[in-house]
Amino acid sequence: MVTIGRRVIGCRVHALDEVDSTQAELARLAGEGALEGTVVTARHQRAGRGRRGRFWWDAPGEGLMLSVLLRPPVPAAQAPQLSLVGAVAVGDALEAATGVEARIRWPNDVLVSGLKVGGILPEAVSGPGGRLEHVILGIGINVNQDRFPADLSGRATSLRLTTGARQDTSRLLEAVLDALDRRYAEWLAGGFAVMRDAWRHRSATLGQPVALPEGGSGVAVDVDVDGALLVRAGDGGLRRVVSGELEGGERHAAGH
Ligand code: BTN
Repeated sequence: MVTIGRRVIGCRVHALDEVDSTQAELARLAGEGALEGTVVTARHQRAGRGRRGRFWWDAPGEGLMLSVLLRPPVPAAQAPQLSLVGAVAVGDALEAATGVEARIRWPNDVLVSGLKVGGILPEAVSGPGGRLEHVILGIGINVNQDRFPADLSGRATSLRLTTGARQDTSRLLEAVLDALDRRYAEWLAGGFAVMRDAWRHRSATLGQPVALPEGGSGVAVDVDVDGALLVRAGDGGLRRVVSGELEGGERHAAGH
C-alpha cells in the first residue's frame, strides 16, 4: 500500500494484481472503516462490473481499473451525480496525460473518436433512514489494448489505438487521481452546477436524439444544475431524465 499525504483522493492506494472486482474489494475495506479517498487498483479483474450488471472486460495489465471510496455528506439522492463528476474528471485526466479530446456520453461513458474508452460505475450504500454511507466510484479505462472481443468491436477503443502509442498506466492513474481530487472538491463545495460548463464542453450527448425512459424520443438539449439530462420530447415538452440510461445512447455505447 502506498500512502500519499497531499490529497483526499488517493490518500491510500492498494495496488492489486488480480481480483474479482476492485468494487468488491473496496466495499470490504469500506466496511472496515477505510478512509475517504482510499483507492483499490488491479491489473486484472476476473469479474469486472459494468453498469446494469454487465461485465467489464479487460486484458491483464493493459487497462486502468480503479475504485475510489467517497463519503460525501450529502443526501443519497445526489449520489448518481458522481457519475458525471467522475466522467468530467476522467475527461480532464485523459486530455492532460495523453492530449486526446475526450467526450462524455451522459451519464457515465467517456468517448474518444466516438468510441467508448472508459466508463464510470457509482455504487452507493445507504444506512438507516436512507442516509448515504458511502459511494464506491469505479473507473475503467482502456489504455493499451490493441484489440477487443468481437462483441465490443466497433463500440470500444483504447488510448493506444486512438493515439498510436502505448501509454503509461501509472502516469494516467496519477492524472485521474489529481483530476478527481479537484472535481470532487468542487462538487462538495458547489454541486454539479460548478462543472456544468465543463460537462457541456465535453458532451457527446447534447444535440443528439435520445430515447426517453417512458417511451418515445427527443433531442438532448442541456444538462440541469443537478446533472439531469434535459430532453426536448417529440411533443415539444421538456423532460428531465434523472437516472438510468438512455436506451438510444446505450445501444451504441457501453458494451462493457
Ligand atoms: C460502465 O461503463 O459500465 C462502467 C464500467 C466500470 C468499470 C470499472 S473497472 C474498476 C471498477 N471495478 C469494477 O468491477 N468495475 C469498475
